[in-house]
Amino acid sequence: MSNVFPNDFLWGGATAANQYEGAYNEDGKGLSVQDVTPKGGFGPITIEEGSTKDNLKLEGIDFYHRYKEDIKLFAEMGFKVYRTSIAWSRIFPNGDEAEPNEAGLAFYDRVFDELHKYGIEPLVTLSHYETPLHLAKKYNGWANRELIGFYEKYVRTVFERYKDKVKYWLTFNEINSVLHAPFMSGAILTRPEELSKQDLYQAVHHELVASASATKIAREINSNFKVGCMVISMPTYPMTPNPDDVIAAMDMERQNYLFSDIHVRGRYPGYIKRFFHEHDISIHFEPGDEALLAENTVDFISFSYYMSATASAHPEQFEKGAGNILGGIPNPYLTSSEWGWQIDPKGLYIVLNEFYDRYQMPLFIVENGLGAVDELVTDENGHQTVNDDYRIAYMNDHLVQVREAIEDGVEVMGYTSWGCIDLVSASTAEMKKRYGFIYVDRHNDGTGTLERYKKKSFYWYKDVIASNGAML
Ligand code: BG6
Repeated sequence: MSNVFPNDFLWGGATAANQYEGAYNEDGKGLSVQDVTPKGGFGPITIEEGSTKDNLKLEGIDFYHRYKEDIKLFAEMGFKVYRTSIAWSRIFPNGDEAEPNEAGLAFYDRVFDELHKYGIEPLVTLSHYETPLHLAKKYNGWANRELIGFYEKYVRTVFERYKDKVKYWLTFNEINSVLHAPFMSGAILTRPEELSKQDLYQAVHHELVASASATKIAREINSNFKVGCMVISMPTYPMTPNPDDVIAAMDMERQNYLFSDIHVRGRYPGYIKRFFHEHDISIHFEPGDEALLAENTVDFISFSYYMSATASAHPEQFEKGAGNILGGIPNPYLTSSEWGWQIDPKGLYIVLNEFYDRYQMPLFIVENGLGAVDELVTDENGHQTVNDDYRIAYMNDHLVQVREAIEDGVEVMGYTSWGCIDLVSASTAEMKKRYGFIYVDRHNDGTGTLERYKKKSFYWYKDVIASNGAML
């Protein structure tokens, strides 16, 4: 059968500034919420508890100084696209300044120029869990409507600056995660157990308005820009065919669909209005919000996919499993990664079809991959490498399901695997959990030379791209 991947399919990899740039205080950069998140994750912290000590993200993998070497390696794999984020606090160190930081802007000029040198298209996340810390401390992050204005100023600045260098933009990384990790995702300092549903959903509204506003500004600046939303996808299966379990699964999925529904359809769906009513939540809309949301819907939907979930009407009967921010009840039909994330390639096929059936809009898989412990070994030619057959198997199985979905007629723009070069993990803030095709010599205790080594998967992915997916 002929190859179903479109000729212009965007193959590549994904990263985020706070997890790999390092240089956390160089050239005028301010602190972001990540810079005070201690090892062990995104859980509820206060600024007093968090510190800039013992935090691997501060140095990351030093992409800030090694971007040329790294981009050369991405080009060698044949990347067509490269997803990264702009660290908001490099551009506006505190977030509420009048003028941007020129040194920060100049850094991304260098990065985008280097990508274009190799014909690699940048795909830029405007906000990837790295809101300036000052906006958390002074305003309580996205709980405060004032954040919209600061974000608008920041996005206008970068859209203007890079209007001829970047075409694809994502407004907020995994925007739905704010419901589950309000500090990491929304820079909200109020501890989750003290944060009322009213304030949480009001913060959601602020982000949604800011996202629509960014889309509007983007179109004013360059009508060729393509702006997408970015959500965590997690197809949710009912634990049993009991209709109550099916409804529990539907409810869990709606927590995610809420965000894509509003980005695509431009209005709050009926099911959330009912939820608000039943929970005494009343979202404050400023004049103009409704029209802004309605008139500035996205060009495409992007999402991360790591795992599926299982839901029950009686979740208290089960132990909750680990997972990408949301998690769920472990599914007995699936195996798990070393970090307990369940592995479900067919879930990607399901989610692609579900999104497409719901919206008939282009889809972009901007995160997927396996976090694993890798062992550096010496091959027969004396080169250091990692024999990561487990990663190749994981990615191959997932990409086969992407192909299946394309065969069903689903429009898939591209695929950027997560952490194409090893970086610091988001949830556990460690180096040991590696996703890359490129091994970086850095360890949980902060030691390592930062040297880069090609893993076996590096050559495999290169062949996948060269064959445009035909070899899968
Ligand atoms: C996604 C985030 O939730 O999952 C990334 O967008 C993150 O920032 C990725 O790194 C994998 O999670 P982790 O915790 O394994 O790094």
